[in-house]
Order: sequence, then structure tokens, then C-alpha cells
Amino acid sequence: MATVLVIDDERGVREGLCRAIASAGHKTLPAGGLTEAREAIAREAPGCIVLDVRLKDGDGIAFLAELRAKLAPDVPVIMATAYGDSERTIAAMKGGAFDYVTKPFDLPALLATVERAVRQRELAKAVPQSPLAGAAPSPEGSLIGTSAAMLAVWKVIGRAASSDVPVLITGETGTGKELVARAIHAHSSRAREPFVAVNLSALPETLIEAELFGHEKGAFTGAVARRPGRVELAAGGTLLLDEIGDLDLTLQTRLLRVLQDGRYERVGGTEVLTSRARVIAATHKPVRPGQADARLREDLYYRLAVIEVELPPLRARRSDIPQLVAHALASSPAKAVSEEAMALLQAYAWPGNVRELVHVVQRAAVMCGAEVIDVGDLAPALRAPQTTIEVGAPGDGPGEPYASMPLRDATALLEKRMIELALAKSGGNRAEAARTLGIARPQLYTKMDEHGIAGRKE
Ligand SMILES: Nc1ncnc2c1ncn2[C@@H]1O[C@H](COP(=O)(O)OP(=O)(O)OP(=O)(O)O)[C@@H](O)[C@H]1O
Ligand SMILES: [Mg+2]
Repeated sequence: MATVLVIDDERGVREGLCRAIASAGHKTLPAGGLTEAREAIAREAPGCIVLDVRLKDGDGIAFLAELRAKLAPDVPVIMATAYGDSERTIAAMKGGAFDYVTKPFDLPALLATVERAVRQRELAKAVPQSPLAGAAPSPEGSLIGTSAAMLAVWKVIGRAASSDVPVLITGETGTGKELVARAIHAHSSRAREPFVAVNLSALPETLIEAELFGHEKGAFTGAVARRPGRVELAAGGTLLLDEIGDLDLTLQTRLLRVLQDGRYERVGGTEVLTSRARVIAATHKPVRPGQADARLREDLYYRLAVIEVELPPLRARRSDIPQLVAHALASSPAKAVSEEAMALLQAYAWPGNVRELVHVVQRAAVMCGAEVIDVGDLAPALRAPQTTIEVGAPGDGPGEPYASMPLRDATALLEKRMIELALAKSGGNRAEAARTLGIARPQLYTKMDEHGIAGRKE
């Protein structure tokens, strides 16, 4: 039960709303205008506010700003706007309204919104302060992750930063390959020199050569002046050859020569230039010799992969998800995620990896317009029970986390994943999760402890 403040200057509307909300078991406080509303807030500290946009003694949107700024910053406010008033609706949502309902009221929908708002407020009170909340936000573009898999990555970054040899970064899309390349550069002795990235898949084949090595005036139609290539621009810094798996074979040969002795010519030129840049290459395609459909010439692969960084897919390092979520929320209106929503985020397969996670969380934060992101704010794909478990065939295709593991580790990981899924599906209810898994409840508790799975207290 909560105390709901209903602000509307039309008596009939006000009374009707109060009756409906009271019938759902809440205490109601009617207010006919803003002065009355201010008094009621000071007296009763409501847990939810329903606010009309057009009032006789003031403007609801302006009052919303006052509520958010000082009168009741933590109280969810549901705005009531006239149907079709889209400008005001947008203004209300931008102003931090929890939700809006349109007049004439659809009472069941309004009551459902009130319930959500009340629950949201309880969640906001119950969510423990994240251990990260007080900490300084990680700087833009910094890498996050403390899982065993990421610790291994930190080590290789450190090693790569202290040397000058080429580095090959592999990993599925969205796993942070570009961030890793930047981190290596930033920690290397070349940090003050340029970092130049060239996306080899985004350029038409015919332009890649000119883009990489530059061209002389008149080298081809349209080459009206000499232009330096990315290799030249990188000077004594770092050159990131992104999406190297998409480079065609002729250009791979050309690149190999440059990597061997650093020498190259601009397109249409005869002057021999020498590159001092440190080369880092990245790709999400298979490139290792012997891998099915490998995209790189074997000799080029060995030239590039003097140090190889293989970024784990997000589903193989789920313990990093809460930290990544906190990072994604650092500059957003929502500040936390409910336990149930977090369980779903941790159970999802994340084919788009960190990029997808950041996108999903930031979108939910914008759409929910409240302090705490709840299950209902997540896209349907995440909410759908995930009943299939991706195990894959033996081999080491990209993103197959089990195949390259000892059987014991793979079994443990599978067990952990199934428990997480069952808990997510049951909304955190352990008795139900134990039933789904076909084990006794005490056994589930033991296994949750073993795997470090936090669960909702019952
Ligand atoms: N470990 C991480 N910590 C924080 N943010 C990350 C991390 N990994 C990835 N990101 C974020 O995810 C997004 C995608 O990262 P990035 O562009 O480096 O991926 P990628 O591996 O190069 O993907 P693609 O193969 O699609 O180019 C970026 O916004 C990046 O900031
Ligand atoms: Mg990339």
C-alpha cells in the first residue's frame, strides 16, 4: 500500500481517480491545485503522484520540474495529458515523469501504471548501494572487467604495451577490440604519438591502397593533390588495421612486404618511404591457419600475431555484467537495475557482446524514466525465457566457450548457466527454480554458493 497524491483541478476527475486508486488498496490524497499539493507533500510524503498537465493555478510540467528538483525528487510522477498532446507528453517524459496517461482515462491501465510506479519506488529503496556507486566513474573509453577471462586480457595488454611488436586482436563483434588497441597504445611509449585507425572493411577495394599508403598528384582520376596515407599519418605512433580479415589477398601481400621492412611507396609514386608505426590488427573473422575459412595468408598471420589477444565473448565472462551495467548507467537518468532485471541481463546470450549490452541498458534507462530499470523496461527478446543452451560442436569456432575447456570446467560452467537461467525464468524464486532443474532446494542453495550466484532472499 502506498499514499498516492492526485492533483487535478476538475473535481469529478479528481474524485473518480481517487476512488479507483483507493479500490486498489492505496491511500489517496486529493489536491485541487498546486498550493494544496505542496501542503500535502510537506504533510504526508506521498509514494506516488498523479499530476494533471493543465491546471488552473499553474503548469503541470513546470511543477514536475519543481518536484524533481526539490519537493519530491524520488517520488515517481505520473502525468495526465490530454489525448494527442504529443509536445507536452515529450516534455513530461524529458522532465523525468515516470510515465504519462492520456485523458479520458483508461482506468485499468492507469491503475497498472500506479502499481508499477509504487513498485519502482520500493525497488529504489531496496536496491543496495552498488559497490561502484561511490567510486569515481571509469574514464570514457576505459576497459571494464575483473573476471578471470579479462584479467588474462589485462596481462597481455601490459605485455604488448611494453614492447613494439605487431599485435593481433581477435574476438566477436562488440567485445572491445578497438578499446584494447587504444589501451595498448595509451600504455606504450608511443602514447604521445598519433593513434590512427583504418577500417579496412568500410573502404572499397580500389581505395584501400591509396588510403593506407597515400597517393601522388595525378596518380588516378580525382587525385588532384598529393595525399599522405594512414601509414604516413601514424608516424611514430600506432596504426590500427581494423577488420583485417576483410582485406583481399593482393593487398595482404602488399601489406606483408611493408611489415617485413617498413618500406612502401605512395600510389603513383617512386619515392620509397619508411614506416615507423607500430601495427595492431583486429578482426572478428577466423584468421588462424587451420581454422575453417581462415581469412589471412599464413605468413601474414604469423607476422601480425607476434602477440595475440583473444577477447572472450561476454557470455563467457558473465560476472563482469554488473560492472558493465553500472558503467553504462554512469551518465544516465536511471541509477540502478532491479535484481530480477539483472538476472535477465546475466542470463542473456549477448550475441552483440558489450556493444549490445551498453545499448540495451542505455535504451532501457531512457525509456523507463525512473531510478531503477525493471524487467518490464527490457526488450522482449531479453524477457523471453531462454530455454536453449548454446553448447556447439567440438572445435574452436569463434564464440564457442565450452569446446576449448577441460571437461570439468565446461560442466561447471554449464551447470552455473542452467541455474542462472532457471532463476531468471522464475523471477528469482528458488523453490520454482529448483523444481525446473529437478533438484532439491537445499541442493540448489549449495550449488548457488559454489558458483557465487546471488539470489533473492525469500
Ligand atoms: N571491456 C569493456 N569495458 C567497457 N566498455 C567496453 C568493453 N568492451 C567493449 N566496450 C564498449 O563496447 C563497444 C564496442 O567496442 P569496440 O568497438 O571496441 O568493439 P569491437 O570488438 O571493435 O567490435 P567490432 O568487431 O564490431 O568492430 C564500445 O562502445 C566500447 O566502448
Ligand atoms: Mg571494431
